[in-house]
Amino acid sequence: MYRDQHTQRMFSTLELGYSNLLLGCDRLLCLGEGATSDIDRQECREVGAALISCLENVRLLEDLSLMPALEHLAREDPVMRHIFRRLSAEHCEDACQMEEVLETLDALAGRCPLAAGYARLLFVGFARGMRRHVHMERYAMRRIVGIEPATTITQ
Ligand SMILES: [Fe+2]
Repeated sequence: MYRDQHTQRMFSTLELGYSNLLLGCDRLLCLGEGATSDIDRQECREVGAALISCLENVRLLEDLSLMPALEHLAREDPVMRHIFRRLSAEHCEDACQMEEVLETLDALAGRCPLAAGYARLLFVGFARGMRRHVHMERYAMRRIVGIEPATTITQ
């Protein structure tokens, strides 16, 4: 268990980052669910900028705190090993999907005649996948610091 002040501080900052990332996902979900050829260009630009900034911030913090702690615990704990492998794989997938989301937001903001249905599927799929990913990371983080995950995770 990691109860030292440095880890606690990093995890608190990471919690804030996750909250912001989930808000970005909510905005993307709204944009996706209401996507038509008449989509709000400014909203596309803002959502894209907010999402990439949140994701980069969270990734940096995860690389400095969550992932090393998980990797360490994974040596002894099969549950943590499974979580570590899964989260590592999801990070690679998320990076590729995020690029696709940003390109699509750019295309929509620039009035590219892109099918709204495609944007809808992409945005909704990404936002839901990212939410699941963040909930798993929060679960792992709370387990690491010794908080009972089952009673503290909010879906
Ligand atoms: Fe992550």
